[in-house]
Amino acid sequence: MAASNKFALITAASKARRRAVAPYSKFKVGAALLTRSGEIITGANVESASYGLTCCAERVALFSALTQGMREFTAIAVVAPAPAGPMPCGACRQLLAEYAPAAEVWVADSRSLRTIRSFFVQDLLPLAFVEVPPI
Ligand code: THU
Repeated sequence: MAASNKFALITAASKARRRAVAPYSKFKVGAALLTRSGEIITGANVESASYGLTCCAERVALFSALTQGMREFTAIAVVAPAPAGPMPCGACRQLLAEYAPAAEVWVADSRSLRTIRSFFVQDLLPLAFVEVPPI
């Protein structure tokens, strides 16, 4: 992926971050998914007073894209004020392994967007459970 496309997706995630609803942690996260056909779908974290119901930015973006009919993803960018960028949690890794296994994961600190670290979903969740076996 060309560096400019990478930066464009990180920038989209950074903009989406402004829409985070994080009154409890105050930790705002933005995510942007890139489809194979070049569309960008964004999301941000949404928190609940019942803390466990919180949904991460990555899953908000993924659920939005999936329910708009998109199925093939080449990358997801995630931006938050975390040194070296935020790493997706275990729940998000599971969903990415299921629905975006070919996507590269690009993360950046919202305070220094030009330093982007890249990962493969397979490396973030090796040996993933992605299918219920027939019983
Ligand atoms: N969060 C995300 O949205 N994505 C991540 O990759 C890490 C964590 C959110 C969940 C919660 O709203 C806040 O960050 C603090 O955990």
